[in-house]
Amino acid sequence: MTDSPEQAKIRVLMVCLGNICRSPTAHAVFHKIICDNKLGSTIQVDSAGTGDWHVGEPPDPRAQQTAASRGYDLSALRARQVSREDFERQDYILAMDEANLQFLRQRSRATDKARLQLLLQYGDSDRVAVPDPYYGGDEGFEEVLDLVEAACTALYAHILASHFPPHTPQS
Ligand code: 4NP
Repeated sequence: MTDSPEQAKIRVLMVCLGNICRSPTAHAVFHKIICDNKLGSTIQVDSAGTGDWHVGEPPDPRAQQTAASRGYDLSALRARQVSREDFERQDYILAMDEANLQFLRQRSRATDKARLQLLLQYGDSDRVAVPDPYYGGDEGFEEVLDLVEAACTALYAHILASHFPPHTPQS
């Protein structure tokens, strides 16, 4: 179904490998920004993994705990794998690292709607990738949140400026 102009939505998909650490964190952080700004029905965010090992599982307990300490609730999220439909329906598919971006690029078609980018393209971090915290310690999950919070704030500003420019009065 095509959205009418009044219902126009911007759809954002956060993507990592397992969809249990980084992308659900980015999902929840961006969701809070949208909701805090009362744009929850105008901008939609979701997350998915390029791998399928954890499909149906909740986010990693360490990701949930670290996010909860900063006010984000990941408990209702469940892992899923990126689908063909995502390429056709999402406006932005944002990968956490180059390997996941490469996976997405190899599966994209010229007719797809989604633009494929790295999340850290947004913001002024000199980092390219959100490092995979799965095999490391708790500090890795704090670093994920630091990087993701800054990038999501910049992404929100970009989407507002690009898709919802302030109304300029006619002279
Ligand atoms: P994520 O982290 O991609 O940030 O969700 C990982 C989760 C699971 C695995 C690797 C990375 N794994 O190998 O199962």
